[in-house]
Amino acid sequence: MRILVLNGSPRKNGTVANLLKSVVEGISNRHEVEWINVYELKIKPCIACMKCRSNQECTLPQDDAHIVGRKIRDADGLIVGTPTHWGNMSAQLKLLFDRNVPVFMGEKPNGMPYPRQKGKPAVILTACSTPWPFNYIAAESRGAIRAVNEVLHYGGYRLIGKIVKSGTKTRPLISKRLLKKSKIIGNRF
Ligand SMILES: Cc1cc2nc3c(=O)[nH]c(=O)nc-3n(C[C@H](O)[C@H](O)[C@H](O)COP(=O)(O)O)c2cc1C
Repeated sequence: MRILVLNGSPRKNGTVANLLKSVVEGISNRHEVEWINVYELKIKPCIACMKCRSNQECTLPQDDAHIVGRKIRDADGLIVGTPTHWGNMSAQLKLLFDRNVPVFMGEKPNGMPYPRQKGKPAVILTACSTPWPFNYIAAESRGAIRAVNEVLHYGGYRLIGKIVKSGTKTRPLISKRLLKKSKIIGNRF
C-alpha cells in the first residue's frame, strides 16, 4: 500500500510534524510512505474558474499542485496533519485542496457530487494552542479537523483515526500517551 503524508504545518519540527512522525513509525514496513511538506510547494491560488469540474484537472499552468494532486490520487491511503489556524486548516494546505477538487470529488451532470477516493483509509491530526476543553468548545482544533474532514468526506475516504494535541502554548511537550496513540493509529494501515 502507498501512503501519502501531508504535513500542513510551516514548521518541519513542530507539534504536527512530530505527531505525524509518530504515526509513520507505527506504519508496517510492508507499506511505502511518502512525506510532503506542503509549505515547500510552489502553488498558485485557485482562480475559481470551475473548469476543473469538467476538465478533471486544474487548468492553471502546471505547478506543484498538479504533481501532489496526482500523488494523492495514486496513493492508497492519506495522512493529513495541520496546525489549527483560525479554527481551520492551514492556508497552504487549503490551497492545495482548493487546487485539487476533482482529485477528491466528481460532479454528475445534475451537479451532485460523487467521491473519487472511495474507501481509502485516512488519518487527520491537528495541534492548537488553546487548552482543553476550549479547543473543542470554541471549535479551534475541532474546526480544523472538521475542515479537513470536509475534503476527505467528499473524497469518500474512510477515517481510521483522529489525533488532537491541544494547549501547545503552555504544554508544548507531546505526552507519551499521545505518541503511543499516534503509533497505534499508524499501525491501522
Ligand atoms: C496564523 C496562526 C493562526 C492560529 N490560529 C489558532 C487558532 O485559531 N486556535 C488555536 O488554538 N491556535 C491557533 N494557532 C496556534 C497553533 O495552532 C499552534 O501554535 C500549533 O501548536 C502549531 O502547530 P505546529 O507547531 O505543528 O505548527 C495559530 C497559529 C498561527 C501561526
